[in-house]
Amino acid sequence: MERLQKMLAHAGVASRRKSEELILEGKVKVNGKVVKELGTKVSASDTVEVDGVKLEKEQKIYHLLYKPRGIISAVTDDKGRKTVADLFPHINERLFPVGRLDYETSGLLLMTNDGDFTYMLTHPKFKIDKTYVARVKGIPTREQLRPLERGVVLEDGKTAPAHVKLLSGDTKQNKAIIEITIHEGKNRQVRRMFDAIGFPVQKLKRERFAFLTLLGLNAGESRELTAHEVKLLRVMAETGKIGK
Ligand code: URA
Repeated sequence: MERLQKMLAHAGVASRRKSEELILEGKVKVNGKVVKELGTKVSASDTVEVDGVKLEKEQKIYHLLYKPRGIISAVTDDKGRKTVADLFPHINERLFPVGRLDYETSGLLLMTNDGDFTYMLTHPKFKIDKTYVARVKGIPTREQLRPLERGVVLEDGKTAPAHVKLLSGDTKQNKAIIEITIHEGKNRQVRRMFDAIGFPVQKLKRERFAFLTLLGLNAGESRELTAHEVKLLRVMAETGKIGK
C-alpha cells in the first residue's frame, strides 16, 4: 500500500506536490470514486484515474550493475559525488540499489524500482549468499581465518558463520587474496570482520549475489535481469534457501 500522491508521482503523472493539488481539486478517482483525502492509501490492485484517464502501472525493472569503485550506492548525494543512478542515464523509471556497497567497494549490485523485491532481498531473515573477494594486508593462516567461520563479535553483534577461502598469498608484498561468503548485510561487514582478526581490507569486490555473477560485464556496465532470474531470487528469498 502507498499513499495516493506517491503512487501518482511514481507513475509519472506529476511531482508529489502537484499530485496533491490534483487530488484536492477532485481530479483523481480511486475505483470509480473521487478521492480528495491526501492520506488515502492505495495498492496495485486499485484502479486509479486522473482527469478520467486510467493510470498506467509503473513498469517494474531489474538491472544487475557492476559497480565501479568511487561511486556511492545511492540515488542522490548531497556532496555531489557520482551515484549509481548516474550509470543509467538511458532509464526513465526510478531505479534504486538493493542494499549497498561502500564507496570504495566494487562489484555486483542489483538495481530496481520494486520496493517489495528490495525488502525481500535485504531483510536479515532472507539469507541470500553474497560472495566477496578481498585483498588484505598480511597473510593469515587457516587458524587465523577460523574466527570468521565461527562468527566474530562486532559492535553491533556477532556475525553468522562465513565460508572463507584463502585464494593466494604474496609474501613479498605481504598481502593475501581471500574469498568470503556471508548472508548478512551489516554495514561495512566484510571490512569490519577482517579488521576484527587483524588483517585489514585493502580492496574489496562483490563477485556473486546468490546465483548471479558479473560474467560478461566490465566495471560501470549493467544488464537487465531475465524474468526467470527475478523469479528465482523471489523463490529463494521466500523459501529461505541459501543460493549458489
Ligand atoms: N562489506 C563491506 O565491508 N563493504 C561492502 O561494500 C559490502 C560488504
